[in-house]
Amino acid sequence: VKPTVPALALLPIRIFFGATFLWAGLDKLLDPTFLDPAAATSIHAQLVAFSRTSPLGDLIRDALPYANAVGLVIAVAELGIGIGALTGIAFRLAAAGGAALSLLFWLTASWATRPFYFGADLPYAVGWIALAVAGHGDLLVPARYRERPRVPVAANRVDESAPASPARRLVFQAGLLASLAAILASFAPELRVLGIATGPQTSPTPLPTLLPSGGPIASPSPVASGAKADLVVGRVADVSRAGFAAFTVPFDAPAPLPAGDPGLVVQLADQSFVAFDAVCTHAGCTVEFDKVDSIIFCPCHGAEFDPTRDAAVIDGPTRQPLAKLPLVIDTATGTISLAG
Ligand code: FES
Repeated sequence: VKPTVPALALLPIRIFFGATFLWAGLDKLLDPTFLDPAAATSIHAQLVAFSRTSPLGDLIRDALPYANAVGLVIAVAELGIGIGALTGIAFRLAAAGGAALSLLFWLTASWATRPFYFGADLPYAVGWIALAVAGHGDLLVPARYRERPRVPVAANRVDESAPASPARRLVFQAGLLASLAAILASFAPELRVLGIATGPQTSPTPLPTLLPSGGPIASPSPVASGAKADLVVGRVADVSRAGFAAFTVPFDAPAPLPAGDPGLVVQLADQSFVAFDAVCTHAGCTVEFDKVDSIIFCPCHGAEFDPTRDAAVIDGPTRQPLAKLPLVIDTATGTISLAG
């Protein structure tokens, strides 16, 4: 079959989107922290972060008890969408699914991105819509999955390689696609056992979060008077020595503390301590502290925040300061705690 011009023109997008979604699904399933609620990079922690900025915040909060199920569904859906785009099986359905998922990511992971064109999810959604409308044009698709109608090739005979009715074809191909995605997903534990694992999610379509690096991780300490034991985030001596420390806000921290978020405590030039939610207000990566310039920066798209001015934005694609976390400093016991 001679490929149509739109099919040829859309082939690069089809291959790129298909491969990207396939990898995004695998990346999640191979990341040992993705389904670990205690990890700062888990789907649970990411949903908690998105719930604060997304217009779907209430919905996300309702889904938090099912965070791992949501993460698994997203990962397997990404596998199916990627396979469908690359092979042509249930192509339009896969592309429509890619558009729906990308729109969901735009409303959650990318919603805080300013200006909007810095976020990748909206362009993904538009590209998927183009693929869903255009179809694959029977290009690079096995004969039985082509879209051309069943045509008579001779009296009393039809072309058997051509597909059956559209409804039957869609149901069959959707089932096949779901089965292939499930089979591929079922291999993830074996691959991890073989040492094939990925790190935290960082790309735009997968949900973004980076681990803080280059700084000490605050360790549990004796309890400060007036502070709850489980809200201790570090020792004065440790933070003074390094100038800063990264920590995780305890998962059982009371609201409005951002339970499960990464945090950053910094000692300022006047020796006082300040702490911030380390989830970047642009697209959710984890910010870090630059000791040389005494600024907080985001490794993803370069946002910079001033710790001396309540993490006001110095530069970058966001206008929203980091959320400040209230601290209790107990000089007697030498502990730094979140005020709960
Ligand atoms: S996530 Fe984009 S600058 Fe931080």
